[in-house]
Order: sequence, then structure tokens, then C-alpha cells
Amino acid sequence: MSTASLIRALEDSRSDRAGALARLIAFLSIPSVSTIPELAAEVTRAAEWVASRLRDAGAHSVRVDPTPRHPVVTGKMSATAADAPTVLVYGHYDVQPVDPIELWDSPPFEPSQREGALYARGASDDKGQVLAHLEAAAAYANAGGSPVNIVYVLEGEEEIGSPNLDAWLAAHGDELIADVALISDTAFVARGEPSIVYGLRGLAYMEITAQGPNRDLHSGQFGGAVLNPAGALCRIIAKLQDADGRIMIPGFYDAVRPLSDEERAEFAALPFDGAAFDAATGRAGGFGEPGFAANERIGARPSLDVNGLVSGWIGDGAKTVLPARASAKISMRLVPDQDPDDIARRFEARVKELTPPGLTVEVTSLHGARPAIVDRDTPAMRAAAFALKAGFGKAPVLSREGGSIPVVNTLAAKLGLQTVLMGFGLPDDNLHAPNEKFEIDQYHRGIETIIEFLHAFAEEHTA
Ligand code: BES
Ligand code: ZN
Repeated sequence: MSTASLIRALEDSRSDRAGALARLIAFLSIPSVSTIPELAAEVTRAAEWVASRLRDAGAHSVRVDPTPRHPVVTGKMSATAADAPTVLVYGHYDVQPVDPIELWDSPPFEPSQREGALYARGASDDKGQVLAHLEAAAAYANAGGSPVNIVYVLEGEEEIGSPNLDAWLAAHGDELIADVALISDTAFVARGEPSIVYGLRGLAYMEITAQGPNRDLHSGQFGGAVLNPAGALCRIIAKLQDADGRIMIPGFYDAVRPLSDEERAEFAALPFDGAAFDAATGRAGGFGEPGFAANERIGARPSLDVNGLVSGWIGDGAKTVLPARASAKISMRLVPDQDPDDIARRFEARVKELTPPGLTVEVTSLHGARPAIVDRDTPAMRAAAFALKAGFGKAPVLSREGGSIPVVNTLAAKLGLQTVLMGFGLPDDNLHAPNEKFEIDQYHRGIETIIEFLHAFAEEHTA
């Protein structure tokens, strides 16, 4: 593949930065929140938008495939050379809900440009990063063609645990033959520190519903003589973890792969910015499992979080009620080699054991994802390191992140595909929170980095 087409593609992308930004603003204006049933039509509208951008970018075989919930958008770019390798690009066009909406400084679906960043729900996670791939493809199309074949798989259900993606992948295996998967849905470890992520945590997401009396009761008439399900549920939850957050479910840590001395040295060497970490949360660090650094706790140790807790009177002022029901949403982040189904069973068994007489609990598993570790020494990893250096002027570090991307494990297990996680977010992008942003410089450099990657991977492949 000639360097001339790389240079032309880079030039093309640089000459239309305003267009790339305008397209991102249009994409971010669609409220494609996958978990809210009332917004299903908007999720579909975002899928159609992606498909039309793919077609404009020069892709062929573009389809919007329905699933039982939200569609999968797929399409292909053909390489100019016959012996070129194939890259599968995965991303998601769905976004998280916006609540608490009152804490946004500008409306989440009216992208607002401030201090070099674009603020909108999905800006960093993952629309900005998805669009960077389509912009890179368009640049090659304008420059005479792509150095590699590309298969796009862009889903609308990532933020709800990808419930229909495995079936779609299984049904379309013959269209997905590739040499590597490339995903941009992660962040740098710190500003100015390009990062390739080689590990992600898995997830077991559970819901407990607890039923006490058969109806809400007056707490004066009944309080003290009838078990309160809200308090009882809190006592159960309190026994699932110790004060440092270590999880007290029998067998929970059995499958956790211990960190080797070498890995610990790598974690210690990462440019992890403790001050920025504290600033992002408004709390000085210091919480967590003893004996582990903050980035180890996030990247290589499991965790348990109460994500939601509902019961009783939550309006203004007081109401003396003894509620009939209480519920909690609790998720556990998992690390190799923990299995989400095994962890869900252990969780349920422990909750049942802790349930006192007078309370009926139901435990359901909402979704699960397996943890993932990818190969670090592959031609595609070398291409990514080269591309990030070219795009951001600094060689990347290798890091492990605490979030989950369920497809990474599926791609390896079902399609035999290794993934490269080359993301362009920053740690303070406010993912899943108010004022999510994507920095415009990260976007434009991200596009150029993808252009560089596609060229470098073609070269590695033919070398
Ligand atoms: N982009 C994130 C994953 C992520 C977050 C990777 C932070 C690295 C650092 C992704 O969209 C996400 O939020 N995934 C969900 C998956 C879950 C619903 C199965 C997550 O991690 O909560
Ligand atoms: Zn994401």
C-alpha cells in the first residue's frame, strides 16, 4: 500500500475538520438511549443515520438489521489491493440515560462547544469514537481507496449489555471473517498519554426485590412488630462487603487470577494521575482493597457496587410509612477468570442465606459480561502503537480498564478474533454522568490515528 494514499487521506481529513465536527454534532443530537422503551424510534433513527454516513463514506453492503430490540448496522469497505487484510470495526451508537438532567450545564442532546470540547450524551461513549472510524473511512474513499478491507459492526444495545448481539454475530459469521477487531470505546490513562487497553472487566448485574408485609403500613401502628423490608434489605447488602469493599460472598475470589510481580510493576509504572482521579470524584483516594493501588483496584480486581436502591417514601418531607417492598440493583465487576453465571449463582445463594424470616426475596440476573484480556504482542498491536504515536506524538502505554465491553470476549470465543482497544477518550469525559464531553482535538487526532492504523496494519500484514 502506497504511502501516497496515506498522505492523501490525512490531507483529506485535515481539509474537512469543520465537516467532521458538524457531522458529530448531528449524530449527537439524536437521543438514542437504548434502555428507555419510549426512545426506541430514536435509537432506530441513529442506526439509519449511521447507515447513511457509512454509505456516504464509500461503504457497500450497508444494512440496518433488526433484532428483537435495537438494530445492528453493518457495512463493508473494500481494499484497493486484492491481498489486503480485513479489520472488523465494532462500536455502539446507543447511549446512556441523561439523568440527573438538572446537573447538565447544557442540554444533553444539543451539543455545546466549550473550551475545546463538545458536551453531549454519547460524545465520548461512543458516538464520537464511532464517527471517527467513519470519517477515517471517508478520507480513504476520497483519497482513492482503503489499504485494508473493513467490516463494520455497530450496535445499539451495548449500554444494556448487548442482549441480542451474540445471536446476530452467530447468524452472520460468514460475513465477519477478519484478521483482527478494532474498537475505540476506551480512554487514555491520562491527558497526553495515549493508551492501548489490553484488559477489561466483566460484569454480573443483579436485582434483588424484597417483599415484607402484604401492603404499606402505618409505621406507628405496625413499626417494631413487623419486619421493615427496606432496613432488612440494607442489612443484607451490608453483609456482602466489608468496610474496604472486599466482597464477602463465599467463593467469590476463587477464580481471580492473581497479579504477577511483573504486572504489578507495569501498573506502578503507568502514568496514572492520582490528583486528576481525586479531582474527578471530589474525594481523596484511599478507598478500596488493602494492598492494591487505585489503578489495580479498577483494572485487575473485582468490585461490587450498589447501583440503585428503592423503597418507601422518597418525596419531599416526611411520611411515616413501613413500606411493603424494597429493591436494589447491584453489579459486580469481574476479572479473569471469573465467570458471570457462576458469580450470579453465588450472589443469589448468599442473599438467600442472609434473608431473615418475614422477608421474601427474589434475585434476578439482569445481564452479564465476561472479562477480557487480549494478546499484547501482535501485528495489530504494533500497528496501533505506531498509529497512536503518529497521531498524538507520544508512544502509547498498555493499560487495563475497569469498564466492560461484552463483545470483546465473544469475538475471541466465537470468531477467534483478537481485539485491539484503541480509544480516544480522556479519564474526565464524564461517561454515564452529567456533562459528558469529547475533546475536539481527541476527535480529530483520533481520526488521523485510525487512518494511520489502517495503513500500518496493511503494511504489517504484507511485511
Ligand atoms: N465505553 C464503555 C466501557 C468502558 C468504560 C471501557 C470505561 C473502559 C473504561 C461502555 O460503553 C460501557 O459503559 N459498557 C458498560 C457495559 C455493560 C452495560 C455490560 C459498562 O461497562 O458498564
Ligand atoms: Zn461505550
